[in-house]
Amino acid sequence: MDVIRVQNEQEMSEKAASLLFQQIQQKPHTVLGLATGGTPKGTYRVFVQKAEKENIDLSHVTTFNLDEYVGLLPSDTHSYHYYMDEHFFQPLRLDKEQTYLPRGDAPDIEQETKRYEQLITQHGGMDVQLLGIGENGHIGFNEPGTSFSSRTHVVDLNESTRQANARYFESLQAVPKQAVTMGIATIMGSRQIVLLASGERKQEAMKRLLEGDIDESFPASILKKHPYVTIIADKKALSLVS
Ligand code: F6R
Repeated sequence: MDVIRVQNEQEMSEKAASLLFQQIQQKPHTVLGLATGGTPKGTYRVFVQKAEKENIDLSHVTTFNLDEYVGLLPSDTHSYHYYMDEHFFQPLRLDKEQTYLPRGDAPDIEQETKRYEQLITQHGGMDVQLLGIGENGHIGFNEPGTSFSSRTHVVDLNESTRQANARYFESLQAVPKQAVTMGIATIMGSRQIVLLASGERKQEAMKRLLEGDIDESFPASILKKHPYVTIIADKKALSLVS
């Protein structure tokens, strides 16, 4: 795993956006794997600015998001569909047909996990997968204990993850209890993985990722087995790493 140490969140976002840019310039038919949450917001902001300024053609790009809450409609302001529309898809004027997220409102959620996994396979998998990391080491919504061989599946969210995400909702009770997420094996199938981490909250997770063992109790640890991982992390996130 390559670690790019940066000063702060802004620098992390600029580096990540440049990396995505280079990828699309080299391969216009890129399949991008995208994440939500607080961490990639700056990357999307910088990417949108750059795309406008340089008038880049994104018409051949396809995107797949990592996850979505079960039970939320795409129009729900807390859904990851909404987040992606707001921060990335609409500002870039991406066509709906180019962008995929699991449907948390699907009537048959198990069927939806299979459909999503098949769609990813049909598109040849992700060229670059952007990841954040949970304080407990989750990637996507793959909580500690998730099998490293998992594919897209439904998860019961940990109380700690619900609490961490409650800041985006009116209350803890409003945070959904389940989500659909790409599995760990699905993520590991990406040709390149770019993991972003910023701020003190991620200190412990980064230490365990970089210095700990590979173990299902810390999902992100599997990334050590991937041949092409780039970690872009700021000083605060790396402050416990020797
Ligand atoms: C989001 C996702 C999660 C987040 C993680 C960190 O699509 O898959 O794994 O990346 O929970 O969230 P933030 O960035 O809000 O700290």
